[in-house]
Amino acid sequence: MKKKLKLLTYGCQMNVADSERMAGLLGQIGYTLTDDADEADLVLINTCCVRATAEDKVFGQIGRFKALKRLKPSLILGVVGCMAQKEGANLIKRAPHVDFVLGTGQSSEVARVVRSLELERRHVVDTSNVSGEIPAEVFPLRGGRVSTFVPIMYGCDNFCTYCIVPHVRGRERSRKPEEIFAEVRRAIAEGFKEITLLGQNVNSYAGGMTFAELLSAVDNLGVERLRFMTSHPKDLSDELIAAIADGRGVCEHIHLPVQHGSDDILRRMNRVYTAEKYLRLVEKIRAAVPNISLTTDLIVGFPGETDDDFAATLDFVRAVKFDAAFTFIYSRRSGTPAATFPNQVDDAVKHRRLEILMDVQNEISLAKNSALVGKAVEVLVEGASKTDEKIFTGRTRSNKLVLFAHGTERAGDLVNVRVEQAQTFLLKGDVC
Ligand code: SAH
Ligand code: SF4
Ligand code: F3S
Repeated sequence: MKKKLKLLTYGCQMNVADSERMAGLLGQIGYTLTDDADEADLVLINTCCVRATAEDKVFGQIGRFKALKRLKPSLILGVVGCMAQKEGANLIKRAPHVDFVLGTGQSSEVARVVRSLELERRHVVDTSNVSGEIPAEVFPLRGGRVSTFVPIMYGCDNFCTYCIVPHVRGRERSRKPEEIFAEVRRAIAEGFKEITLLGQNVNSYAGGMTFAELLSAVDNLGVERLRFMTSHPKDLSDELIAAIADGRGVCEHIHLPVQHGSDDILRRMNRVYTAEKYLRLVEKIRAAVPNISLTTDLIVGFPGETDDDFAATLDFVRAVKFDAAFTFIYSRRSGTPAATFPNQVDDAVKHRRLEILMDVQNEISLAKNSALVGKAVEVLVEGASKTDEKIFTGRTRSNKLVLFAHGTERAGDLVNVRVEQAQTFLLKGDVC
């Protein structure tokens, strides 16, 4: 009988990609995926610790499986990923019904560990090798049908003062180009139409060629649409801008986190650029790729953020006019420098600032989307919407979500849609 794996993935795309790789490895020892935790023989929780809210969700999930394990003692429960790396044995101390904890450097060992637990029950904790070599030739069990991720580098060396990621993901390591090309070719052969090259800082790629060279080389493999994330402003070279402008499949979209609009805060965040420098960069990108869509990440409530600092973020957002922004409340991560900075901002103030920032950005997003009404956009069809099977969803090259009335289109098709209506987070239209 086949063994069943219930996989829960939290956090960023990197975790999604890691989960697909672990599912691939567990497939080799007989596990197939299930949505239903009740029939699972193995539950794997792939975790995130970037903010306290992410950790709270994971603790909630771990707690949920306590009752299930009592009913079914043979169930194996594993916690992997960034929070596993950060907490290690603490997780088992807090929740002894967890069987194993593997850090980010141990994800390729998951099948070996599960097999040993099938034979003999004990607690396993391993958070070693956080900056270890990237295992070659892992065959991921890909979740999507149209779009998929290919990691090109792991880790982060930037040490932004608020961020836990460099501590739980280790130093920057790049995969070899040949391995990346082989994986992209396989994904294309499996029918994927869109590939996103992934890394904490994709544009600091250093696998023997520049990121711009890698992007162009992958583009030449013939993928329909090619994306990449996340880029750090400090490494966004002219060569990369040219590769986007000249690329065929390379989509006109850059996710370029700015984090803040105040130079004083940017300096204390260790972001190594000023607001002015970022603005110049945006001008350069827009001059080379006029229809580029720009998205960003912003943090409110960093320690010592004054009303004036916050006003600088609002001014900045109004000046750049991002297509969309992910906005976060600063979360104090122990072990990071900013956690010990004086003048931590009051919770109520943080929440108020977030609301104001979201209102400002939402108005800009709506205005940007409204400018597309009446225009035709190329949409990569994803499939039926969750709520109505007559409505299909897809994305533009600029990565905007589009809803349209379904005719004969199938997932993976490229169609032109005339935009009839714009909302803050999506466009609606009809195939033309
Ligand atoms: N490597 C990527 C992604 C990092 S995590 C990058 O540099 O952009 C994604 C986002 O989470 C970051 O861009 C940042 O905006 C946010 N983030 C990271 N640490 C945080 C913290 N302690 N509190 C709130 N937001 C945080
Ligand atoms: Fe975190 Fe900064 Fe690295 Fe991004 S670049 S993962 S925000 S330390
Ligand atoms: Fe979270 Fe780890 Fe990604 S901390 S944001 S899952 S790299």
